[in-house]
Amino acid sequence: MSISQSTPEILDLRHFSSRELAAVLDVESTYWLKHLHWDYRTSARLLNQYLDSHSLPGYVATQEGKPVGYSYFVYEESKAVLGNVFAKMEEGGDGDGREKRQIESRLLKHVFETLFSSPGMERIEAQMLVQATGAHTRQFEEAGFKIHPRLLMVRSLRGPRVVPVVKLPADLELRGWRDEDLHPAGRLIAEAYNGHLDSVINNQYRTIHGALRFLHNIVRYPGCGVFTPNVSQVIVERTSRELVAMLLCSRISSESGHITQICVHPDYRRRGLAHLLLTSAASGFVLQGATELSLTVTAGNEDAVRLYQGNGYEVMHRFDAAVWEKAHYA
Ligand SMILES: CC(C)(COP(=O)(O)OP(=O)(O)OC[C@H]1O[C@@H](n2cnc3c(N)ncnc32)[C@H](O)[C@@H]1OP(=O)(O)O)[C@@H](O)C(=O)NCCC(=O)NCCS
Repeated sequence: MSISQSTPEILDLRHFSSRELAAVLDVESTYWLKHLHWDYRTSARLLNQYLDSHSLPGYVATQEGKPVGYSYFVYEESKAVLGNVFAKMEEGGDGDGREKRQIESRLLKHVFETLFSSPGMERIEAQMLVQATGAHTRQFEEAGFKIHPRLLMVRSLRGPRVVPVVKLPADLELRGWRDEDLHPAGRLIAEAYNGHLDSVINNQYRTIHGALRFLHNIVRYPGCGVFTPNVSQVIVERTSRELVAMLLCSRISSESGHITQICVHPDYRRRGLAHLLLTSAASGFVLQGATELSLTVTAGNEDAVRLYQGNGYEVMHRFDAAVWEKAHYA
């Protein structure tokens, strides 16, 4: 029986094990690889650990007793982050994904109801890369979320060998990432994103404490690919030893590298430091055998989008960042 023939039941995610959701996650992994060039299996392994702890909040849509879709979210004090919503398209179902979207919409409805009735909820953030812009944009807007369009951009690493043209001013030094850079990097992020559109989308960027949490996730967990310290770089001021720019990279598949963070201190911008870091990342991933390099950027961050276009990146996929803030409705 296809999805169209019966209405899905929505159940608590915590009743399900990773084994029971394996078929949905397999379909999702195929989708990520095909459309985003991203090997989702590494992220799925981490998700499986949470599923088997039966403590991750979310919902599962079932059809004939079998899971066909899921969603989950996490609470961070007075904020919630919507991690994902995904339904698989059944064989024999409609070809245009309408039923898939309907199931995802039902899951989202339950998630919103739960979050809006959670005591003390001040803020909800969602960035679901797998959901293309338009799939659920209206539902988020109708629930009171503000939408910020984001882009997944990609450049090929094939063709002529990418060689970094290192022309750093004498007072600056480029070197590889070290574990002890974590704290200074937190400070740099908070300064680089002060008043920035991305700190409207992700409030972790607004404080050193929040930035450290963000960095910890990037460096320790595979949610954004597997961190590659040997391609990640920092630029330091020689005398003060302060970090003035940074580039963090991860591996998202055997073919693809990904830039998880790039920023330059406001006092050091428009000197070509970001260009140098981007070239260095490309060169580093070529040495590791990757054939393409991707990153995500907020469409409204026009300086960064122009910089990436100038460095050979093209838009591969559009998705939404959505933010709900209680203050807007108080
Ligand atoms: C986006 C960001 C990383 C760019 O860093 P940057 O070091 O200023 O970038 P570059 O100097 O390499 O290039 C920026 C511009 O300066 C120009 N430039 C480079 N060297 C220059 C020089 N010596 N003199 C004048 N202009 C120069 C570049 O051509 C580029 O021009 P464009 O805007 O027309 O493309 C930086 O603005 C930043 O940290 N922003 C906040 C964080 C952020 O948005 N990160 C990206 C998230 S996806």
